[in-house]
Amino acid sequence: MAEAPALEIVRTAGQLRLRLDGWRRDGHAIGLVPTMGGLHEGHLALVRRSAEATARTVATLFVNPKQFGPGEDFETYPRDEERDVRLFAGAGAHLVYAPGVEEIYPPGAVTQVSVPGLGDMLEGQCRPGFFTGVATVVAKLFAQAMPDRAFFGEKDFQQLQVIRRMAADLNFPIAIEGVPTVRQDDGLALSSRNAYLSKDERKIAPALYGTIRAVAERVAAGGGPAEEAARGERRLLEAGFAAVDYLTVRDALTLQPVPELFGDSGAPARVLAAARLGDTRLIDNVAV
Ligand code: PAF
Repeated sequence: MAEAPALEIVRTAGQLRLRLDGWRRDGHAIGLVPTMGGLHEGHLALVRRSAEATARTVATLFVNPKQFGPGEDFETYPRDEERDVRLFAGAGAHLVYAPGVEEIYPPGAVTQVSVPGLGDMLEGQCRPGFFTGVATVVAKLFAQAMPDRAFFGEKDFQQLQVIRRMAADLNFPIAIEGVPTVRQDDGLALSSRNAYLSKDERKIAPALYGTIRAVAERVAAGGGPAEEAARGERRLLEAGFAAVDYLTVRDALTLQPVPELFGDSGAPARVLAAARLGDTRLIDNVAV
């Protein structure tokens, strides 16, 4: 395989702005792919999509402390900059922005971006403060880079909706694009946290996708969302999941519970779930 070309890394917002101003002057549309590293094919699909849709792709590497709660895996989150930069280069990125914590949160910084409603339910309820951490860091990355487009995985479907809301509410003139989830052959959605699964847990993990897909199919065929969700939850526990944080059928835009196939916004419903396998928490979602 051909060596990917060396990729420039900038570490300050000033350097980033200088590089991007030059590209903008040359008339290039800029795509932004925010990541926390620990890259897998799901992230690379975002970079490839950005490289297809825009002339210049900036990938960011920043493990955002503000989106980890007490007892979560901030300290142990996979960090391997050399590997990540090589993978970004191979997927077609043009620049990596890898700021230190003080570049994003300078001493004295207190301003936060929260997205009430959308950001308080589901993941937001299970992980208080999570979406405020995400919305704050993404707003800062948007303000620093001011890209034309930004790319996020549908794997984190609620995050995608929170970011869309935040970008609209704060008047960022940035097109937000969701990119379909990348899965292993057995259906398991790629996630940096899959690395935490034991061999036995890994065998059980695809049941999450199998179950939400079955729920989506039954709802599409006329089953009641609440009943089908409850049936799905039982199926996950039988498959060996230790606990189900939620398995629910929601309006795809507002994420409000839906009584039937189409929600209050007229968007088709989405099945979203989070479940625990040993110490690992997996999330996934599918369209109905
Ligand atoms: O999805 C992620 O990896 C993170 O939540 C994001 C969007 C990069 C913000 O830190």
